[in-house]
Amino acid sequence: MKQKFNKGYVECIAPSNIALVKYWGKKQTQIPLNSSISFSLSACQTKTKAEFSFGQGERNINFFFHGEKTPSFIPKIETFITRVEKLYPWLSEVEELTLKSENSFPHSSGIASSASAFAALAYCFEVTSCKLEGHEFNHSRASEAARLGSGSACRSVFGNYNLWGELSATNGNNSCSQELNNIHKNFRNVRDAICIASSGEKSVGSTAGHALMNGHVYGEQRIEQAQQNCTSLLNYLEKGDLWKAGEIIEEEALSLHALMMSSRPSFILMKPNTLKMIEIVRNFRQTQNIPVFFTLDAGPNPHIIYFEEGASLVESKLLEELRPHCEQGRIIMDSVGAGPKVLESFFE
Ligand code: PMV
Repeated sequence: MKQKFNKGYVECIAPSNIALVKYWGKKQTQIPLNSSISFSLSACQTKTKAEFSFGQGERNINFFFHGEKTPSFIPKIETFITRVEKLYPWLSEVEELTLKSENSFPHSSGIASSASAFAALAYCFEVTSCKLEGHEFNHSRASEAARLGSGSACRSVFGNYNLWGELSATNGNNSCSQELNNIHKNFRNVRDAICIASSGEKSVGSTAGHALMNGHVYGEQRIEQAQQNCTSLLNYLEKGDLWKAGEIIEEEALSLHALMMSSRPSFILMKPNTLKMIEIVRNFRQTQNIPVFFTLDAGPNPHIIYFEEGASLVESKLLEELRPHCEQGRIIMDSVGAGPKVLESFFE
């Protein structure tokens, strides 16, 4: 089929997200073993411009990262395109695809960029699909496409809080995430101060990490724990119970790391200063009686999660106490965000 345009481009920006209940373990292709809940960030984002020319020739892909030609990313993009072609059949008629991508956060900051990168790319594809086929923007399809790039990316296609994964007969599904709309005002301006304990390469990538859950000695209990934590957290997010939510957030962070430590092979991704910072957060919380919590991704950097209540004291006191334990004193200040945006699009 000949497309109605010869060429065009779309530029989108999509956020990273931080999981409060962690996705850990999957079946093919990025079908999660358990449900997860996250919120989308605002400062940590990927901006991607996708330039298309349509034709019948063989597809050629170019990839530029921060203006530099980076062919090492192309095999991942090829795999992604093969997976999403069933959602976006017009991709088979793209002769030349040039992607220009940049992250708002430093490459060596220890922040995973795959969620924002695949969400931005999926968003570009969904916008293109609307232009070519004349339909409405479909967030669920964009989220499903992003999931096929990197599981957690499906939660970056929306803003605010998201649920991904089947939770009950009526709530959640494995193929895409959904934005939660019943969030209490206490949770609305949640902040995330990302303390860079170490910016070095992780000793286990996420693909190998998820695989550790196959046959894990605590595998079944983990699924049960995560499902229960999702159900409880949804309830606390609706009721506005910051303290109960915080208990789950920290339990999830430490469970994720406990699962990695008790895997075969075993991995310890926390550094001594990660533990030091956890101790400081807990002491501060106890002495000040302020709802401030930590979470961790599959890496050493504590994310300090706090709310409107007590924010100024957290920033002036707690973060300053944590800063000497961060690599070069680096803390990335972030907060909940509104989700991806289309910056520009043009087809002719
Ligand atoms: O999307 P992936 O394959 O990079 O997995 C992400 C896993 C965690 O970041 C550890 C947890 C999560 O739910 O984001």
